[in-house]
Amino acid sequence: MAAHVCNTPMALVSLVDEKRQWFKSKKGLDASETSRDISFCGHAIHDEEIFIVEDALKDERFCDNPLVCNVPNVRFYAGVPLWLTNGCAIGTLCVIDHVPRLLTQAQIETLKFLASQVVRHLESRWKNLLLSDQLIYTSKLAVLGEMTACVAHEINTPLGILSAKIEVLTHKQKIGVLKEALLLQELEKMHKTTERIAEIIKGLARFSRGSHRDGLVRYSLQQIVFETLELCENKLKKEKVDLSLEFERDCIVDCRPVEISQILLNLIMNAVYAVKNHEQRWITLRLFLQADQVHLQVVDSGSGISETVVNQMMTPFFTTKPVGVGTGLGLSISRGLAEEHGGRLSYEKWQGHTSFKLSLPVAQFQQKSA
Ligand SMILES: Nc1ncnc2c1ncn2[C@@H]1O[C@H](COP(=O)(O)OP(=O)(O)OP(=O)(O)O)[C@@H](O)[C@H]1O
Ligand SMILES: [Mg+2]
Repeated sequence: MAAHVCNTPMALVSLVDEKRQWFKSKKGLDASETSRDISFCGHAIHDEEIFIVEDALKDERFCDNPLVCNVPNVRFYAGVPLWLTNGCAIGTLCVIDHVPRLLTQAQIETLKFLASQVVRHLESRWKNLLLSDQLIYTSKLAVLGEMTACVAHEINTPLGILSAKIEVLTHKQKIGVLKEALLLQELEKMHKTTERIAEIIKGLARFSRGSHRDGLVRYSLQQIVFETLELCENKLKKEKVDLSLEFERDCIVDCRPVEISQILLNLIMNAVYAVKNHEQRWITLRLFLQADQVHLQVVDSGSGISETVVNQMMTPFFTTKPVGVGTGLGLSISRGLAEEHGGRLSYEKWQGHTSFKLSLPVAQFQQKSA
């Protein structure tokens, strides 16, 4: 349609990354990608509205460009950047010709409109893909992976204690010095230890199963926090991050508890990663009410996130972690899950520190917690 409106033989939807540009939809061109340094679109995405080169041979930036001197022999180019609602430009909608051209104002406006439709379409496709079972699960596995070593430790330590106690009791029994009172006391402790191990395993099993097709249930938000902390307590201990809770009042929310747990775990794991090399390492979880919304805030001892990262961090696959460490899915999936619950996930600096806030509609208020 863009080619038709502008009367050009070529039109493209291109996506641009640091090194390349890909053609996601194309007319009149065979190539499926080119390197970014020779691309016109790489220039266009820096433009606010539209980037036009009426005659590439008369433009010193492009006159010796291989795309101009060789096939496809570009002479005219007009590209509208595809600005996502989060403020990132990811590519362009462009029209190209082998001869110099001028566009009318009506053609420019139509091209801009078509670009806005491309963005709308891409964003809705993203949203569906992002909330697919597979990606939610991938992100869940990433966060589980970060905790596995610590959870194993959390199970192994009490198992070791159990084993040692059994050995001592067996030995005492064999040599005839085991008193009944001691036996009962030790059995009681051993029972508590097995219960603790069972709780951890139950929590892991609950967290690991797919839940996206579950219906909503009425659940205490405070309870979800406690169940989630069970899973990451040891990770916090290992990284020497102090955790404190400031709970104003508990609330019942209509939710899929595993998904709220997934959001909270992502936020906690992000906070742990962010502060683990700092001198001050703490996380505060705050739970408070405002009108009919309950807010669960995760504040960490970091001093805020740079504007460049803030602008992109909710975009799928954006990560500042080294390759292979993070998927970059945590925040974008968490935001999608929050919105599916009729809530939102937002970033804000709080008292000079990094803070993320999950806000959910309240289903029912609880008594003030002690
Ligand atoms: N508490 C935080 N402090 C500082 N930066 C943060 C914090 N939380 C998130 N970020 C930034 O946002 C980026 C994206 O976070 P997100 O959770 O989406 O992915 P990730 O943590 O990098 O990867 P994964 O979640 O798969 O481990 C992080 O790489 C980091 O740069
Ligand atoms: Mg993360």
